[in-house]
Amino acid sequence: MFQELKQLAPDAILGLMTKYRADTAAVKVDLGVGVFRDPSGNTPVLDAVRRAERQVLAAQTTKTYVAPAGREEFNRAVEELVLGASHPARRDRRARTVQAPGGCGALKVGAELLRAAAPAAAIHVSDPTWGNHLPLLGGAGLRLERYPYYEARSHALRFEAMLERLAAADPGDTVLIHACCHNPSGADLAEPQWRALAELLERRRLVPYLDLAYQGFGDGLDADAAGVRLLAERLPEAVIAVSFSKNLGLYRERVGALIVVSENAERADAVHSHVLQIARGIYSMPPDHGAAIAACIFADADLSAAWHAELEAMRGRIRQMRALLASSLRAATGDDSFGFIRDQRGMFSLLGIPPAAVERLRERHHIYMTADSRINLAGIMPGNAGYVAEAIAAERNA
Ligand code: LMR
Repeated sequence: MFQELKQLAPDAILGLMTKYRADTAAVKVDLGVGVFRDPSGNTPVLDAVRRAERQVLAAQTTKTYVAPAGREEFNRAVEELVLGASHPARRDRRARTVQAPGGCGALKVGAELLRAAAPAAAIHVSDPTWGNHLPLLGGAGLRLERYPYYEARSHALRFEAMLERLAAADPGDTVLIHACCHNPSGADLAEPQWRALAELLERRRLVPYLDLAYQGFGDGLDADAAGVRLLAERLPEAVIAVSFSKNLGLYRERVGALIVVSENAERADAVHSHVLQIARGIYSMPPDHGAAIAACIFADADLSAAWHAELEAMRGRIRQMRALLASSLRAATGDDSFGFIRDQRGMFSLLGIPPAAVERLRERHHIYMTADSRINLAGIMPGNAGYVAEAIAAERNA
């Protein structure tokens, strides 16, 4: 039966990870997969996580199933973290949250929910977007459309073109929006743009599907959720996929959540029943360990304070590396054509160089990035910024 299945090319991001690990060069730089790195190149276990994990293990008396929706206290805390404690959608009982296996698990359940609710509706996805969005959402059977978002060559947000395209979407369609720290561009909407987008979505009766994978990596936990909070307040419906891979550093534990905001409490209950059935049909129940750690941190003032400080330090390091790489590139190129890197948000920026230049950077200099020239700024260190900048300056043209 498998004779029809041809060998597939590896995933663009995960395949790069494998290539990097196999590279035996003494000097090599990984700007590929989006994981935080400390100045020694390690992706650390946060101290708050270590402490919470010890508490979780000491208190654990059973490994029986938790519940299809996961931990109640986790879900409540996630809603507060994402929407804020007194958000109108929570007050009016319009929001329902389930724990999910990572941000991808949440995105998948949300995608299946959209397909069940409106099988003919399209989902509009930013161009460019994260490499896994298209297979993940398309794999759930959603009809994909693209809206212009960012032009890598001119480093410009294409907001007017985005609004124009979305204004032509059919009522009932969904719009996938990166809540903060846009992956791969690092270009986020400013507050007036969020308001203009909210107005358009409301007028055209479009449903936002927000992907919140980097809360706290842009400007802070509350600031990074401002767009989500605005849309969940202004619009009758919203779907929010949340990941704790990056901000808690719980990558391999698969900790995420899906928040669905409905028109009223009764609808929210009905939607919730579908979410539970969909989750049951995919993975039955979410994994517990990482969510137990997260819940322990959220519930404990000391652990929360420690986490916030560590998150601030991670954010600070990425900002510093943005400034360092931008100034190193200025020195290496003699112009400020990479100055945009300094001002963008989150882990990623697109260099805007051609795929052939990306390939030469890998083959000649052992510097790894995805073919679209996305770089992970957390892979930059004080010790490699000059090397990376010189190499980019030498290879940047086609
Ligand atoms: C990335 O964009 O590199 C990360 O979100 C990791 C992944 O799963 O692709």
